[in-house]
Amino acid sequence: MAGQRKVGIIGSGLIGRSWAMLFAGAGFNVVMYDVDSAQLDGAKVSIKQQLNELERQGLLRGTLLAEEQFSLISTSENLSEAVKDAIHIQECVPENVDLKKQMFSKLNDLCTLDETVLCSSTSCILPSKIFTGLRRVSQCIVAHPCNPPYHCPLTEIIPHPETSEDAVQRTRELMAKIGQEPVMVKREIDGFALNRMQYAIINEAWRLVEDGIMTPEDVDKVFTTGLGMRYAFIGPFETIHLNAEGTENYMQRYASSIRRVSSSFGPIPTFDGKTLEHVEQRMASRIPSVPDELNKRRQWRDDRLVALAKLKKQMDS
Ligand code: NAI
Repeated sequence: MAGQRKVGIIGSGLIGRSWAMLFAGAGFNVVMYDVDSAQLDGAKVSIKQQLNELERQGLLRGTLLAEEQFSLISTSENLSEAVKDAIHIQECVPENVDLKKQMFSKLNDLCTLDETVLCSSTSCILPSKIFTGLRRVSQCIVAHPCNPPYHCPLTEIIPHPETSEDAVQRTRELMAKIGQEPVMVKREIDGFALNRMQYAIINEAWRLVEDGIMTPEDVDKVFTTGLGMRYAFIGPFETIHLNAEGTENYMQRYASSIRRVSSSFGPIPTFDGKTLEHVEQRMASRIPSVPDELNKRRQWRDDRLVALAKLKKQMDS
C-alpha cells in the first residue's frame, strides 16, 4: 500500500476518472482538478458507481473496499491546491498541443516538491512538443493508457529526450504498483507503439476492402475469430515462436513469405471517397451511427472486455 501519498489528476473526463480509480485502488490520495465543475461532480458520481459495480463483480483492484477507495478521491477547482505536495501529476486534458503546453507550463511552476513527476496521458502528441524548454523537463514524461484502462492495463511510457532515468524508473514502478502493465517506448516516435501497430492493421484492412477483396464484416472476423483470439493472450513474437520450433525455425520457414507478401502492400489509403461511404454504410447497417445505438454497442463491448479480464485473472491465479 502506498500510505497517504498524493497524486494530482488534471482533467476529470473519461481518462482522468479511470486514473483516479487506479491510483485510489493502490491506496493513494487522489485530488482531481477540472476547469468545469460539472465534470468534477459527474466524475464523483460515475467513479462511485463504477467502483461499486467492480466490487460486485469481484474485479476491484487492490485490497481496499470500494467505499474506502472512493473516500481517497477528492476534487478541487483550484489547480495549485490539486498539485500541492503531489508526488505524481497525471494530466488528462483534451488532446490539443497548445492546451497541453500551457498546462505543463503552469504545472512546472506550481509543483511544490522537487521529486514530483509530471506525466501526460496524451495519445499521440510527442513529448518534445509538450515539454521542451520547461525547467522541470527532466521530470516530464508521457504515460499513455489503453481505453478502458481498468480492463486493458497496458500503459506506454515515453520519455522526453531530456527525461532523467530516475523519473523513468519511478514512473514505471508507480504504474506497476497501481496494477498497470508499463511498456517502454525508449525514444519518442510518432504514434508511439500501440497506434503504430493499430494503424498498420487499419491500412491493410482498408486496402483489402478498397480493392474489392474482402467485405468489412469479413475483415473484422479475421480478428474476432482468428488473430484476436490469440492476441488476447500472446503477442506477435510469442505467436511466431510457438507456430514453429522457435523463432529461428519460424523465420527459416516463413521469412521469405513475409517479405514477398509485405512487398505487395499498396500505398497508404486516403480513407475517403467511395470506400469510406461503403464502409460507413456496411457498419451502420449493423450499428447505426447515432449516440444511443453506439452507446449500446460500447456497453456490449465493455461487458465482453470485463468477462475477458475476469477469465485472464482466473487463469493467471
Ligand atoms: P475528455 O474530453 O473525456 O476529458 C477531458 C477533461 O478535461 C474534461 O473533463 C474537460 O472539462 C477537462 N479540461 C478541459 N480543459 C481543461 C483545462 N484547461 N484544465 C483542466 N481540465 C480541463 O477526454 P479524455 O478522453 O479523458 O482524454 C484525455 C486525454 O487522454 C487526451 O490527451 C487523450 O488523448 C488521452 N487518452 C484518451 C483515450 C480515450 O480513449 N479517450 C485513451 C488514452 C489516452
